[in-house]
Parts: sequence; structure tokens; C-alpha cells
Amino acid sequence: MKFGYFDDDKKEYVITTPKTPSPWINYLGSEEMFGIISNTGGGYTFYRDAKLRRLTRYRYNGIPADQNGRYFYLRDQASGEFWSPTWQPIRKELDKYECRHGLGYTKIIGELNGIASEITYFIPLKSNTEIHRVKVKNTGKELRKLSLFSFLEFCLWNADDDDRNFQRNLNTGEVEVEGSTIYHKTEFRERRNHYAYYAVNKAISSFETDRETFIGTYENLNNPRSVREGKCSNSLASGWSPIASHCLEMELKPGQEEEFTFILGYVEVSKDKKFTSVGVINKEPAKEQMGKFFQEGAVDKALSKLSRYWKKILKPFQIECPDEKLARMVNIWNPYQCKVTFNLSRSASYFESGVGRGMGFRDSNQDLLGFVHQVPERARERILDIAATQLEDGGAYHQYQPLTKRGNSDIGDGFYDDPLWLILGVCAYIKETNDISILEESVPYENNPELAMPLVDHLFRSFYFTLDNLGPHRLPLIGRADWNDCLNLNCFSEEPGESFQTTGNKTGRTAESLMIAGLFVYTCREFAGLLNILGEEEHEDAVREAKQTMIDSIKHYGRDPEWYLRAYDFFGNKIGSDECNEGKIYIESQAWCIMAGVGKQDGFDRKALDSVEKYLATKHGIVLQDPPYSEYHVELGEVSSYPPGYKENGGIFCHTNPWIMIAEAMLGNNEKALDYYRRIAPAYREEISDIHKMEPYVYSQMIAGKAAHNFGQAKNSWLTGTAAWNYVAITQYILGIRPGYCGLIVEPHITDELAGTKITRHFRGTEYRIEFIKGEDKGLFVDGKKTMITEILPVADIIDVQYIF
Ligand code: GLC
Ligand code: GLC
Repeated sequence: MKFGYFDDDKKEYVITTPKTPSPWINYLGSEEMFGIISNTGGGYTFYRDAKLRRLTRYRYNGIPADQNGRYFYLRDQASGEFWSPTWQPIRKELDKYECRHGLGYTKIIGELNGIASEITYFIPLKSNTEIHRVKVKNTGKELRKLSLFSFLEFCLWNADDDDRNFQRNLNTGEVEVEGSTIYHKTEFRERRNHYAYYAVNKAISSFETDRETFIGTYENLNNPRSVREGKCSNSLASGWSPIASHCLEMELKPGQEEEFTFILGYVEVSKDKKFTSVGVINKEPAKEQMGKFFQEGAVDKALSKLSRYWKKILKPFQIECPDEKLARMVNIWNPYQCKVTFNLSRSASYFESGVGRGMGFRDSNQDLLGFVHQVPERARERILDIAATQLEDGGAYHQYQPLTKRGNSDIGDGFYDDPLWLILGVCAYIKETNDISILEESVPYENNPELAMPLVDHLFRSFYFTLDNLGPHRLPLIGRADWNDCLNLNCFSEEPGESFQTTGNKTGRTAESLMIAGLFVYTCREFAGLLNILGEEEHEDAVREAKQTMIDSIKHYGRDPEWYLRAYDFFGNKIGSDECNEGKIYIESQAWCIMAGVGKQDGFDRKALDSVEKYLATKHGIVLQDPPYSEYHVELGEVSSYPPGYKENGGIFCHTNPWIMIAEAMLGNNEKALDYYRRIAPAYREEISDIHKMEPYVYSQMIAGKAAHNFGQAKNSWLTGTAAWNYVAITQYILGIRPGYCGLIVEPHITDELAGTKITRHFRGTEYRIEFIKGEDKGLFVDGKKTMITEILPVADIIDVQYIF
């Protein structure tokens, strides 16, 4: 069952009913201001950091779902009837409803009894404002008198505190109103140098800033008192919960349309210019912002700028392809999601409440893989930020806060895969850009400028960190966890509520990870390649030697007869082995050992991939491990805390699936690679949206596995490393177009049905025009000449490449 359709020309997903199986959201903003917005206007706005600079309130896990947003109410003055043009929060059935989620904007259309409305929400580039453009049109035959009410609820900045510290918070709320602008200035009187405002470009008839006055005591957003009564009472919030609601009146002749521009703005003021008189805030910077967007035509202009911006972001990789689902994933939605995950890491979504995690060390490095070709200069900046949170011993803070860019000491370090991802991130950046100067950038350790060293030194310390932390089988120690945050082998947590990752009840140097072993071998290959182009022969040899030693350890201690083991636990017992009762086979170690080429010579790789297919693959994707744990195991940690089939306990953890696609492609099993791709790619799951539940235009972190009650049902959409890795799998391995250190590599692993595909790839200033053709004279042709060399140097403005198969 579908709840909408793709409009590929407009690059939009069009939702045709407000009653989607879950709120289907979109993201606004690309630099500093951000917002999430659902298909019924729900969501919130923040400046840079969803925890520390939250502008508006949202109620996670609310009843009914998805409450609080940038809401509007329309009221017919004659009949007293009122409704929400975006359906929520009133939820009155509309004659017409449509939500178009586009790149960086959302447009919601609603029509009732001859009044049509269209609301466009977006955050203009280079501006700390969020714009809500509201158009109201009389499509009937009689004159109509209407009132339009806006509504949003301010968050008292720190979203975490806002949700808990009521003994203070219910006293601090402060606003000012001037003309049609409502200023939210809580805590501006003391240490904050920023405020927010909500303004509209037309004269208002009344306003409300006190929530209870607007709604009524014990009333609800779906029947607010002021709307019911048809006017606001100009309440001034003092403590309690400040909101902003404007009331505007209009008279519309048949066919007449009225347009309003609302601005939700964020303003910073220098310390010495905060007030114009005691307690009166300096409104100049806000007025400047408003002046810009209240000008005739300014909103349209900002919208077209946004559309040009996205066109540029998507330009480096564009495909024309007989499979339209594949094309829309590769051209539009997958790169869009990559950009969003790059911007926000795992901070704010419908599942990530914005107050939890900051930027993850391993997450951000992986996000970069899907993003680096879009805006390389921002990737560069991100790499330097991440590297600055590395520790002197080569380990790393697991997370950092985007506002301060400092390592987060609550969670600390000790995730032993973290440092290796930095090498992969940097190698990917250099392959894309050829900018080896980044290696010379001086980057602090532990955010301490006195400990600064060139970036290349960080890479060496990352590499040696693994070698310095080997266990009894000469395999990498796992620390608190490796990529699988839920395999907590030194934790032994018995107390409910303890963090599985940070409660280390044992200091063990025995638990080892085959996933890190594979990742290390893979990383060595990348790193050695980099050292080679730098002419660092000695170092290159050392890396290659370490790689071989690790391969030997894996071969000796890392295999079962049919697949790679996953780990050794604290006591030295095997995890992910046929000897185990449950959790016999895990996906991560198969993936990484095979991608690293560990068992290429003796055919073990094929054997392991066949085991993946036999035990882990399902019609909805590949589960993380099997059989899932039916009981809690104190020696395994969080992985066994989930009911079977969910999350890391045998769920289809979508992040890992593209690793298997890559592995299959590398081994030449092209059919299988594409088949696995299609099982989880959202556009292919659109028809089963009723089962899948999440947005059909973006990946979710997890789809419930075969052991789960809700097999096939997704959760945690949007902010997941799944986006970047699927993008890598499809573009770099299945379609086979990936940057090398010297040129663009073209090594497709495709099936006959992709014959006729054309790809444009912009790489280091060259436009590669690549075509896949069925034909007799098989091979790779560059500007008409057959070649055996698959890495094609960017030596001309345009290079034609034909792959005949
Ligand atoms: C989540 C985390 C990521 C981790 C994965 C597997 O997606 O963000 O860091 O690797 O889960 O546990
Ligand atoms: C929880 C989640 C896991 C995630 C981790 C991040 O353990 O189950 O997916 O990686 O939190 O800290």
C-alpha cells in the first residue's frame, strides 16, 4: 500500500494523505539553522545544536503522535468553523490534502469548503531564519471573511533542561511584542546573547504569547480558546510557557488570494549592545533580517537559490537508467539523505530526540563517505574537527558536541574501532579532491592546541592504536564496543538503566573483535595506498607488513569452518561460532574480512558469503546475526537486551547490508549485489509502506528481522550510516565508479538489465560521461580506445567512457 508517490521532475515525494503510518518527515536548513518537519506541519527548529539552542518545543512520544509544530488555524468568521490547513493539530478531514517534501523545503496544501491554502516551509541559505509562506485562496463563489492564526511554542533554549527543570523554567519565560513581531527573550536578561522572534509581514489584529491563554486551561491544541473565540487577547507571557500566535483578518472575493510571510528568526547580539534601555532588547538585527525577506519577491528568490544550491550538490553524480527506482535513489534521495546525516549526525530526527548524542567519531567519518564529493570543503573542515577530538594515545572521544566542537567526556573514549574510521575518512577525502595538503594541517589532540600535530600524525596514531591494543590471539581488542555498539564484552551490567557502553565492570584485555581485524586490514590497504603516493616507502612497508600479520591471525584464530567468527569474549569464548547456541553467525566480520580481501586466495570468502545468504538473508534484507539471543547475557551486553529480531539482536540493521553488497560485487556476484540492494532501498519498498511504516524516500536504521513479531517493519529513519554506505555500495561498487588516488576508477558490477545506463560524474574538474552497453567487443573504452587500465586520469575537460559487457 502506498501513501503517496515520487515526483522525480520536481525532486519531491508527494504524500497524499495526512494519515501516514508514522509522521513522515523532512529536513530544513543546511548550514546553521535547522528544522525537522513532518507531513502535517509538526517538528521543531534549532540553531546548530538541537540540545543547546532549541528554538521551538516538540513533544516526543506524545499522544496523539507528532504534536507541536509550526501550526496554523483558519477560521471562517461567519460560521465560526475552524480547521488546520496542515491537518494537525485539529485533524478535521480536509477536502484536499497534499504534502510535498522537497530538497530543503516542505509544501503542504489543504482545502476545505472553498478555501485553499498552501504553506511552504524552508530555511533560506545563509540566513538564521525559517520562513513559512502562507497562501490562502477563495476558490468558492462568495465573499469570505477569514481569520488566520499562527502558533508555535518556544523552547527555553536548552531542550534537555526545558523538559525537566520546571521549578526554574516556569518562572523564566519572557517576551516582548512590537507591531507584528513577537520576541522570545527568555534568559536574555542574564547570560544569553541571543533571542528568537516570530514575525509576519502584515498588520495583525491581535496576538497571544501565553500558552494557557491561547489554549485555555485543560484544553488542547485541537480546540484552542482564542481560535474558538475568533480573537486573541494580547496576552504577555510572564513565566509559564511562552508561545507566539498572530491573528490576522482577511476578506477574500471569489478567486482572490492573500499571501503572508512568517519568519521565525534567531539573532545573536554582541554583549555591549544587548539592550536599548533597561530590559528592552535590541531589535535592530532582527529587523534587518525581516527587512530582507519581507521585500517583494524575496521569498521566491530565496526558494530558487535553494533549488540551485541542491542542483549543485547533486550534480557530481547523475544517472539515467532503465530502472527508475534506482535512478531516483541515486540521483535524489540517497545523496539528499547523505547530506542530512552529514549535517546532523545522529542528533535530531523523529527517533533521535536532539538531547542525546552529539556528533559521533565513527559515525561522522562514515557519513563523510557519502558526502565528500558534494561539498568537499565542508568535508575538509569536518575532518579537522573530528581529528581534534582524538586522544594522544590514538584513541578517540566517541562523540563531540557540535556547538562547542569539544569531545564529550560523559561518554569518553574506549571504542576501539573509532580511530580507524578517521583513516578511511581522510583517504576518501584525498581520493576525491587530491588535496594532500590536508595532511599537513596542524590539528590538536584532545582539543588542546598545545598538543597539535600535523593531521598525518593522527593517522599514524590511529594505525598504531590497533597494534598497541591486541589481545591473546593477536586480534584487536574490542574496548567498550566496536562498530556494533551493543556488543559490550567488558561491561557485565546487572543494574537496570546503566549505560551498556560506559559501565565497564571489568577491565579486560582479552575480548577481541574480528570486525576490527577486518576493518584494520581494509584500512591498511587504503593507508598503504596513500603512503605510496606520498613516497613514504618505509612506512608503507610497515603498514603492509602489519596487514599481513593481521591476515595471518584472522586465518589462524578467526574462522569457523563456514564463516568468520565475530569475537572472543572476556573469558576467551567464541562469539559468532557454530559452537554457540545462539548468535552463531554475525554479519559484520563476514563483511569486513571479505571487503578487506582476507580469504581471497583460498575461496573462504565465497564460503562465508554463502553462509550469509543461507543463515542471514531474508526478503526484507540481511539480519545482523542469527539466531538472535532469547535471553539476556551479562557477558554480551546490550545486543542481548533487545527482544529477538530487533536492532542489533537479529534485526536487519541496514547499515551493514551494503557491506555485503560490496563484498558480493567484489567477488563478481553481480546479481546478488543488486538483489540485496533492492531489498532494503526505500524506493523499492514504497509499495509495502503499510508494512515498512517509515518514509519510502529515505533509509531507516533498522527493519525488524525474521524473528521479530513485526518482521519487515522499519524504525529510526533518516539519521543513519545506512545512507552513506548504501550510496557507496551502489555508486562505487555496483555501478563501480569510484575515486582512486590518481583518477576515477570504472569497474562496474552490473547485470544485463542495467544496459543502456548513462552516468555523468564530475571529478577533479573533469566531466566523465560513462555508458554501459551490451556488445560483442567487451571491455572498457576511453574516448573510443580500448584499455585495460580501469583508473582513468582526469586529463581533459570531458572524457567519454564506454563499458561494454
Ligand atoms: C548506531 C550508531 C553507530 C553504531 C551502530 C551499530 O547506528 O550510531 O555508531 O555503529 O548503531 O551499533
Ligand atoms: C543503542 C542502540 C545502538 C546505538 C547506541 C549508540 O545502544 O541500540 O543502535 O548504536 O545506542 O550509543
